[in-house]
Parts: sequence; structure tokens; C-alpha cells
Amino acid sequence: MTYSVAVSGASGYAGGEILRLLANHPDVEIRTVTAHSNAGQQLSEHQPHLRSLAHLTLQDTTPEVLSGHDIVFLALPHGQSGQYTDALGDVPLVIDAGADHRLTSQSAWDAFYGGAFHEPWAYGVPELLVGPASGGGVKQREHLRGATRIAAPGCNASTVSLSLAPGVAAGVIDPSDIVTVLAVGPSGAGKSLKTHLLGSEILGSANPYAVGGTHRHIPEIRQALAAASGADPDGIRISFTPVIVPMARGILATSTAPIVPGATDAQIRDAWQAAYGDETFVQLLPEGSVPRTADVLGANTALIGLAIDRAANRVVVVTAVDNLVKGTAGAAIQSMNIALGLTETTALSINGVAP
Ligand SMILES: NC(=O)c1ccc[n+]([C@@H]2O[C@H](COP(=O)([O-])OP(=O)(O)OC[C@H]3O[C@@H](n4cnc5c(N)ncnc54)[C@H](OP(=O)(O)O)[C@@H]3O)[C@@H](O)[C@H]2O)c1
Repeated sequence: MTYSVAVSGASGYAGGEILRLLANHPDVEIRTVTAHSNAGQQLSEHQPHLRSLAHLTLQDTTPEVLSGHDIVFLALPHGQSGQYTDALGDVPLVIDAGADHRLTSQSAWDAFYGGAFHEPWAYGVPELLVGPASGGGVKQREHLRGATRIAAPGCNASTVSLSLAPGVAAGVIDPSDIVTVLAVGPSGAGKSLKTHLLGSEILGSANPYAVGGTHRHIPEIRQALAAASGADPDGIRISFTPVIVPMARGILATSTAPIVPGATDAQIRDAWQAAYGDETFVQLLPEGSVPRTADVLGANTALIGLAIDRAANRVVVVTAVDNLVKGTAGAAIQSMNIALGLTETTALSINGVAP
């Protein structure tokens, strides 16, 4: 069977990356692409690298244009998806790259986003532990099988959650004192013009933002780590500082948390090895190795380096992902593959582009 697909937000970064990956998917036909201010223009004006799709014209994003497809991807600014998802009841599979269907807590939504709250959908991070490892927890993958509504993750959030979930699930790190500093390229903030993201502002500079616990991905991380540990989200405390750095794409997250008394080095490393040893796209590097963003560009891979700092009594986890692939479009398509019962890795690569 070939699934017909519509991609909204097709002029943007996330929509463009969804299209780039779907263009190599043997089971889908990209039939419709939509945009907002750029509707009516050729896709090739906005995504000149997508040569095989250059014949497509950006249509208006309306429920009428989107419905009638087997699969609809929404890659719109947060707060915009809900108005469409409510009207897409006839579409068998809808995947939202935005935040509108990620959070289970309305109070967290109100505090960090505001506006209408929409019901949470199946969270599109298949490798995430759900339920403590000691209690026979499963992976989020099991909740994606047969799903008809999927919320793809925030790129920073999924990077940090994948970094730490094995440790909190196994009870070897203390989730009440997590510190993460994360470098991210400006594509993580989208394609629309913003003065603080101009080349002249960010080139040659590291630029912290949302400092002091205000970043919107914080509740998503707490929600995911609470699910992994079986604890209340209130028990997960994270100091999270993102820094925009002058690289087009990529995330390097450095997360630390205290080692629980009595946890041995072997138990700590085993927690991550057990969680990801059989995974294709989330890989624990050998002891002593840490990843670089350059190793994952264009790949649907999260590379994790784990160090045990006994002097500081903290675990240090360094994780690299491509924000537009494993952080968004790749996660969305991997989740789509699982939902439809296709081979999970279809159209996704573990190999990056280097140098
Ligand atoms: N960038 C990332 O690394 C990343 C990672 C994870 C998740 N996400 C999520 O993906 C979503 C899209 O992000 P992005 O980075 O791709 O943003 P973007 O580059 O700014 O693209 C936004 C897209 O949405 C369209 N749009 C804007 N307002 C709209 C409206 N009211 N109705 C319909 N379409 C509208 C734009 O169309 P026009 O160009 O025609 O105006 C454009 O195609 C966001 O929710 C973001 O949180 C992004």
C-alpha cells in the first residue's frame, strides 16, 4: 500500500526536513504541501535542496486541503496545530511536530505556553523508557504501535530525556538535582526572521537564552523523566540552560545528576547499556568516548557519551543529535513507521554527513 501524505509548514525547517526524509520513503506519496504567508509559491523557492519535489506548489493550510490524505504532518509554530487537528477527524494518522499535543498537564501548558490546551497524543520518542526498569518498564515504542495521533518531541526535550531516562529508571541517579547545559544551532528556533538570530548577532558568539528555568521544553523533560522513573513530575527538578551557537543544525546536551549512594560504576553503565544496547538510533559510545554534533548531522541518531565523575559524585551524560532529524522529522517518521507497522528504520539513516 502507498500512503498519501500532506505536509503543512512545508516552507519551514521542520516541514522541509520531513519532506527530505519522506522523499526517500518507499511507502508514501507526497501529494500536498502547505504553508501560510508563502502559500501560492513553488516549494522550490523555499526548499531549493528538495529537487525531487520541485514540482510542488505550496497551498493554503486549511482543513479542506489537508483532509483526504492517509497521513498529515503538521509542522507549524506552537499554538497553531490545535485549530487544524480538531478538524482532521477523518485523517487516519496525524503527526504534529509542534508542542500542542505533547504535554499531559494543563497547568504546565498554561505556565509555559498559554492559550488553548489540547489533549496529549502518543509521544514520538520510541526509545524512551516508560516505567522504571526495575519494574519491567517498556519503551514508548509500544505506545506508538497502531497510534493514530502522534506528538513528535521538542528537540531539546527529547535529547535531554533520552540522555537521562536510563539513569532515573534504574534508580542510579537522583532526579531532583539535574543540571543541563545545551548547545543548539539556530535552526532549532525556526526559519522566520528574528533579530536576535541574525547572522550578525550569532556568528562568532555563544548566546544563552531562556535562562533561569523559563524554557518551554522543561515541562516536557520532567514529564518524560517522570514516566521513565514512575515518579511524580514534581520530583524531577532540572536546571536547564540552552545556548545558541553558530552552527546551522545540531544539539550537544551536557547533563549531570548526583549518583545515588551505593550505585557502582558498573551498575551505572549497565543502566544505559541495558536501555540502548539493542537500539539502532540511540547508541551508547564506548567508555571514554564523547560525541560531537558533527557525527550526527543528517542522521536519525542520538550518540551518548557517559562519564562517572566520582570527585563531584555526579554522572555526566553528553548527547549529540541533529535537531531537525532525531530531534523532529526523523522522530516523526520513525514513529509513523511504527504506527503503521512498517520497518521502523525505513527512510532513516544512522550515518551522518561529515565533515
Ligand atoms: N526547528 C526545529 O529544530 C524543531 C525541532 C522540534 C520541533 N519543532 C517544531 O516544529 C514546528 C515548526 O518549527 P520550524 O522550526 O519548522 O518553524 P519555521 O521554520 O518557522 O516554519 C513554520 C512553518 O509554519 C507555517 N506557518 C506559520 N504560521 C502558520 C499558521 N498560522 N498556519 C499555518 N501555517 C503557519 C510557515 O509558513 P510560511 O513560511 O508560509 O509563513 C512555515 O511553513 C514548531 O512547532 C517547532 O516547535 C521544530
